[in-house]
Amino acid sequence: MGIQAESLEKTYQLMKEQLSHLVPEAELRYKAELVYEINRLKKERGAVILGHNYMEPALYHTVPDYVGDSLELSRIAARTEGDPIIFCGVRFMAETAKILAPEKTVLLPASKAGCSLADSITAEEVRRLKAAFPGVPVVAYVNTYADLKAEIDYCCTSSNAARVVQAIDSDTIIFLPDEYLAKNVARETGKRIIFPAQNGEIQQVDPGELRNTLIGWHGKCEVHEKFTVDDIQRVREQFPDAIVLAHPECSPEVVEASDFSGSTSAMIKYVKESQAPRYLLLTECSMADNIWAENRDKEMIRMCSVRCPHMNEITLEEVLDSLRKNQYRIELPEEIIRQARRSVDRMLEIA
Ligand code: 13P
Ligand code: SF4
Repeated sequence: MGIQAESLEKTYQLMKEQLSHLVPEAELRYKAELVYEINRLKKERGAVILGHNYMEPALYHTVPDYVGDSLELSRIAARTEGDPIIFCGVRFMAETAKILAPEKTVLLPASKAGCSLADSITAEEVRRLKAAFPGVPVVAYVNTYADLKAEIDYCCTSSNAARVVQAIDSDTIIFLPDEYLAKNVARETGKRIIFPAQNGEIQQVDPGELRNTLIGWHGKCEVHEKFTVDDIQRVREQFPDAIVLAHPECSPEVVEASDFSGSTSAMIKYVKESQAPRYLLLTECSMADNIWAENRDKEMIRMCSVRCPHMNEITLEEVLDSLRKNQYRIELPEEIIRQARRSVDRMLEIA
């Protein structure tokens, strides 16, 4: 993966071949210079660059050694020999890489790069839930910070959430923090779902109401919550042959009205392997561009005011600075790494 070119001119030519329909000429020249310098420095430093599927096309197709969804990138972080690991994604992803490769330097190219889901719940709130439901196993989405992962029993990602829930031998499971993912998993696994936390208070629940039940939280992805069933209907009226793909962070109504739901990599695979002429992707916009760059025979329907501001903090300029200045280092207390690792390892064993 990435562009392996011996000169700046060759880097520019390769980028032009793949990206000229997406990136204007003036930008291509400038970005080729950044890409050439990043790849030169990466080699010199023995670094490895991991890129989430949401990175913008001129970054996604040029500098990462590996691209993928959260689960795939976690697996690569655990086994890569490269050091430092430059994580082109958001903070919770870079933290997961640090949990799995604590001896390595993990760098996030932006100082913040948050996530509305990770910000929706604190470790203290998890402790209060555990006190209210003693003995109930806790699953948390990978889109959470390390101190929260240290409090839970199992981690999960969008590609294995239902599998993790099905593997747990318990009638009741706390599933945090994404309300929509929890509802989608509840539907897939045939479970009820309740939300006992209201306005910061955890309500009492009758034990009889906890049979075959997920206990959820009201976290939302600020990107995926914007998609509606009306969006799908409008596109289907105009393009009856369009295939609609929705990330499981979309509402259950949107997921139900779609043709396919899966992790970012599962959506990419679906489009690559399908014969349909056009697709609507209900997820971060860059994904459609990235797929189109490699599948020019397929039409990606544009509905793209929806971008993740946090993923967008990662630019080629920031990646170059990250390599030059060794910034921004992910530092986690040893005890947090040790405790959080249990829940991540359990997920990797199940997946
Ligand atoms: P994936 O694990 O499917 O790549 O999703 C990560 C994410 O943050 C989606 O918004
Ligand atoms: Fe978080 Fe949503 Fe951005 Fe993914 S798209 S990183 S879930 S805010």
